[in-house]
Amino acid sequence: MDIKHDHRYAINLNVRGIQPSATLRINELSNQLRAEGRDIIKLGLGQSPFPVPERVVEALKEHAHEKDYLPVKGLKGLREAISGYINRNERMRSTWEDVLIGPGSKELLFMLQLAYYGDLLIPRPSWVSYAPQARIIGRSVHWLPTHAENNWQLTAEELDIVCRDDPSRPRILILNYPSNPTGCTYTDDQLLAIANVARKYKIILLSDEIYGEVHFEGRHKSIARYYPEGTIISTGMSKWLGAGGWRLGTFIFPPELRPLQDAMAIIASETFTSTAAPIQHAAITAFNGGDDINEYLKQSRRILKVVGEYMHRRLQEMNAVVQKPQGAFYLFPDFSAYREKLARHDIKTSQSFCTALLASTGVAILPSSDFGFTPDHLGARLAFVDFDGGEALKLAGGDYADIELGDDFVQQACPRLAKAMDKMEQWLNSL
Ligand SMILES: Cc1ncc(COP(=O)(O)O)c(C=O)c1O
Repeated sequence: MDIKHDHRYAINLNVRGIQPSATLRINELSNQLRAEGRDIIKLGLGQSPFPVPERVVEALKEHAHEKDYLPVKGLKGLREAISGYINRNERMRSTWEDVLIGPGSKELLFMLQLAYYGDLLIPRPSWVSYAPQARIIGRSVHWLPTHAENNWQLTAEELDIVCRDDPSRPRILILNYPSNPTGCTYTDDQLLAIANVARKYKIILLSDEIYGEVHFEGRHKSIARYYPEGTIISTGMSKWLGAGGWRLGTFIFPPELRPLQDAMAIIASETFTSTAAPIQHAAITAFNGGDDINEYLKQSRRILKVVGEYMHRRLQEMNAVVQKPQGAFYLFPDFSAYREKLARHDIKTSQSFCTALLASTGVAILPSSDFGFTPDHLGARLAFVDFDGGEALKLAGGDYADIELGDDFVQQACPRLAKAMDKMEQWLNSL
């Protein structure tokens, strides 16, 4: 049915001027073009290519009958499992009471901003949803400058400069590493320096570590080790366990921030009540881990590392300026070398760059303007996830179990990624 706007109603929207989430928009457009028969290579949405491990799927089946509402903060057994998981990984001493469960970490991030009155500090570039969430709530966003030479990472000095003018202002800093969109991560020294500045200004530090488990070397470290009293760790099952659509995320709070956790639980109680019961039960299996999950993670990391290296090299060969990823499944190339050639085709923004690339080659990527850059910054984010993760895991753990992965593996397991690079290269050369 065609619904027409009825002018008798003054619809004063809270989300005026805000577009649907950039990643979901590109996904829908790609699906639409696919439905029209175009061959679209989807490097837009950052969804894990890997299937959920079998034992976790079995656990979900076993708990399909769980039908009761669960406690607002989450199932006790799951909160215990997550606390144990974070204590093992980070040598922390959290307890189950420090854990909050929600339907995706995205929702928890939104509730955090709703519950805490303060400015939001985010490094540029940052994940597409932090700033729009702040805007929906009416909070001010302060983008922190970073530089390509510095892997687009926040430095302690830049943070200090921003805070020094108004030292006691309430602030939340979101740090996300390994990073979406760059794939880069921080060294221990960098984390320590940032932690010291955060402590100096009593900043609440939301450490978005949703890609922590897909650090290619398995060496992710939480900044909570250096700033335990002010850091909330955010994670979930979406990126390392292939369970994005299951919608489960978690925050681990320090006891010092318990009032904030309680305030978020009040919001949860008045909005979604609790996260889906069968999913919470199944998540216990995931966070308790085991040899099978360790093996799954080992192979996922091997695959993502070799694919990331391959894509990085191909982009460098195209004269893009791009950092080598150390985790996650993203690359953030800058195509400024083509600025003049692109301008001859009236392509002057990252948005028009991505639109033209999609129209000419069928390769879908996201413009850097979605990550906080001015429209004329000619960057983009590629999510290297358009491959069959199940098949890739089988190959990596089978034929390639004892062989170092290289280009031949990428060609075999991820042919569409190789094709995307070929198409992009041809298009750039044809400008
Ligand atoms: C950096 C970052 N944080 C948080 C999320 C949200 O993940 P979820 O809501 O599935 O837990 C994403 C998802 O793309 C992300 O890339």
